[in-house]
Formats: sequence, structure tokens, C-alpha cells
Amino acid sequence: MEKTVQLYEGKAKKVYATDDPRYVIVSYKDDATAFDGTKKGTIRGKGAVNNRMSNFLMQKLAEEGVPTHYVSEINDRETVVKKVEIVPLEVIVRNVSAGHFASRYGVEEGIVFDEPVLEFSYKNDDLHDPLLNTSHALALKLATREEIETIRFMALKVNQVLKAFFAQCGVNLIDFKLEFGRLPNGEIVLADEISPDTCRFWDAKTGEKLDKDRFRRDLGNVEEAYQEMMRRVFGEQA
Ligand code: TMP
Ligand code: ASP
Repeated sequence: MEKTVQLYEGKAKKVYATDDPRYVIVSYKDDATAFDGTKKGTIRGKGAVNNRMSNFLMQKLAEEGVPTHYVSEINDRETVVKKVEIVPLEVIVRNVSAGHFASRYGVEEGIVFDEPVLEFSYKNDDLHDPLLNTSHALALKLATREEIETIRFMALKVNQVLKAFFAQCGVNLIDFKLEFGRLPNGEIVLADEISPDTCRFWDAKTGEKLDKDRFRRDLGNVEEAYQEMMRRVFGEQA
């Protein structure tokens, strides 16, 4: 499948049209941003890590019954995905306190929750992705009640599958962000990416952070953390 025109450039990916209106090609960049794009940088090799890891995890999720936008990997950085209309919700699942959960509610990082915490933000950079609940999302007509129920169910299923998978890799899945899309027939599928940009990964033994927090918080060894996550997921051949 051939790329035609560029449809969109986001902070970490570009999206191209193809000769088939059902599909688009995403191209992952090494660019990194944080704090609504106010902090900018480059993480060498990140595009390839995120592309390959996200594709691998989406295929695993599809096997477990979670429908996704994934179609086929073209090369290290580029993937064919189904064209969807993105639901403007950032769906966050948390297993352990960290990041904004810790700062917003004034608790330390590392508290293990009895059950996963599910939260929604309105995907809107100008408004700084404000936290919202189901009534807010319905009032704003971001999704229907049925779609929100489907999204909630799928997000919790993704958590079960990924938590178990990363445990085998010696990694604790602390939290992550998902995005969902609508196919032309109305079906909701998992979209966007699942990568060290969108998840918190802590080494199960040492607690070392192996994700984008190394960039957000200037912890150093950013590239090394992305490569280490590749090895954890794909083994030494990564
Ligand atoms: P938070 O604690 O900053 O709300 O982040 C929760 C999870 O969501 C964390 O794994 C990082 C991810 N995330 C994104 O993917 N994009 C974002 O813009 C933000 C703020 C967080
Ligand atoms: N990439 C996001 C931004 O620039 C934030 C983040 O991942 O922390 O807004």
C-alpha cells in the first residue's frame, strides 16, 4: 500500500492517506514532547520502538478478543491501520499511584490499588486535557452511553492482558493511556499506540523507570530505557 498525501502531523506521529480510503499509514517520529508540548526533545530510536512494540501488543490484544485498528507493519517506523474517527477521550487505567494521580490527590507514588482506577480526560490540548466523568462526556456529546460502556469494558480487558504480559517481562505496568476510534460501521476499536510514551513501566525488581518519565523528569538514560523495554518485550533479538 502506498502513502499519498499527509493528513495530519501530531507530536509523535504523522498520518498519511493511502490509495484505499479504508486505511491510513502512521509514521512514528523520534520527537518527544511533554507538558502540552512545552518541553520538546528527541529520543533517538523511539519511533521504531513505539511502532514495533505497539504493533506487537495490538496483535496480542486482538488474539484476546480486543478489536484494534492494526492492519500490518510496513517497516520499522510505518504501519497500516484502519482509518477511524478518534473518540476525543484519553482513557487512563491505573494500577499503582503515579504522575497526575499522585499530584492531584496529594499521595505518594507507588501505592498499589486494590482494583484498577479508570479515568477519562477530554482530548483537547488547548484546555490541557481536563479530567471528566461519564456525565461530562455525554453532555459534551463526545461519545454515546453505549460507546462509553464499550470503551470502559475494553480498557479493563486491555489492562488484564497487558499487566499479565509485562509481569512475564519483569515489568510492573503502573498506568497507561488508551485512545479509541470509530470505524465507518460504528464499531469501536482500540487505536493510537501502546508504548513507553503512553505507559508507565517500572522494573519489577528495582523499581527503575523504563518509560517516558525519564524524559519528562530529566532522569537521564532515556534512549537506554526505550531499548531495554524492547529487549524485555522481544528478547535479545530486539
Ligand atoms: P498522568 O499520570 O500524567 O495522568 O499519566 C497517566 C498515563 O498516561 C501515563 O502512563 C502516561 C500517559 N500519558 C499519555 O500517554 N499522554 C499524556 O499526554 C499524558 C499526560 C499521560
Ligand atoms: N506528549 C504529551 C504532550 O506533549 C504529554 C506527555 O506525554 O507527558 O502534551
